[in-house]
Amino acid sequence: MSVHKSFERTHFLSYCQFLYKTDSTYDSKQVDRLNRHRHVEPESAEFLANIATIRQPKKVLEIGTSTGFSTLWLAYGLRHQAKYDFISLDIDKSRSEAARQHLQNTGLSDSVRLIVQDAFIFLNSNEDVFDLIFLDAERQFYLDYIEGLHKALDIGSVLIVDNVISHRDEVCAFLAEFTNDSRYICHTLDVGAGLFMAVRQEH
Ligand SMILES: C[S@@+](CC[C@H](N)C(=O)[O-])C[C@H]1O[C@@H](n2cnc3c(N)ncnc32)[C@H](O)[C@@H]1O
Repeated sequence: MSVHKSFERTHFLSYCQFLYKTDSTYDSKQVDRLNRHRHVEPESAEFLANIATIRQPKKVLEIGTSTGFSTLWLAYGLRHQAKYDFISLDIDKSRSEAARQHLQNTGLSDSVRLIVQDAFIFLNSNEDVFDLIFLDAERQFYLDYIEGLHKALDIGSVLIVDNVISHRDEVCAFLAEFTNDSRYICHTLDVGAGLFMAVRQEH
């Protein structure tokens, strides 16, 4: 898929700034955390864009679209590539629809396939290998994704997980599945809420 013709960088940057501000204000008023958009921090979004630009992945999977803030930045990082497949998953249809609107508003709608599905079901039936996977969904279910993630990653594939410093206790058992696995080299980055990066080195 290629980037829609109407993409304009200055508009994209101000749109993302506005989206982050509007959704953060909304989130701050929500008592139930599940009602919040919970976007990645802007510096994490930029880091994702950088990884997408450096790695030039042909197959990208995002687990946890929400209303598309990180999706927009991944699409931004991919925009110079002529051909790639970027899938972004969310279990919540209304959030996915909102993300579709934001992608349209920034001229990036052609760059992403938005899928409404439970990540566990997707990973269980998936046969593809991804060059880049960004995981930012409900942490309590991450351990259920281990098998599907290992299967979806091959040599050179990068897995990035958000909130690993802000919610360390909730993800440490999951992260250990990668740090204790000699097929991966892993790093925890002090970017935003803390990003974990595992790179697959062996089959
Ligand atoms: C932290 S938010 C994602 C934020 C997004 N990455 C961003 O930066 O804008 C988590 C999202 O994961 C979705 N989610 C929760 N459980 C899921 C599941 N089992 N499968 C797919 N998506 C799920 C939620 O609906 C929510 O929109």
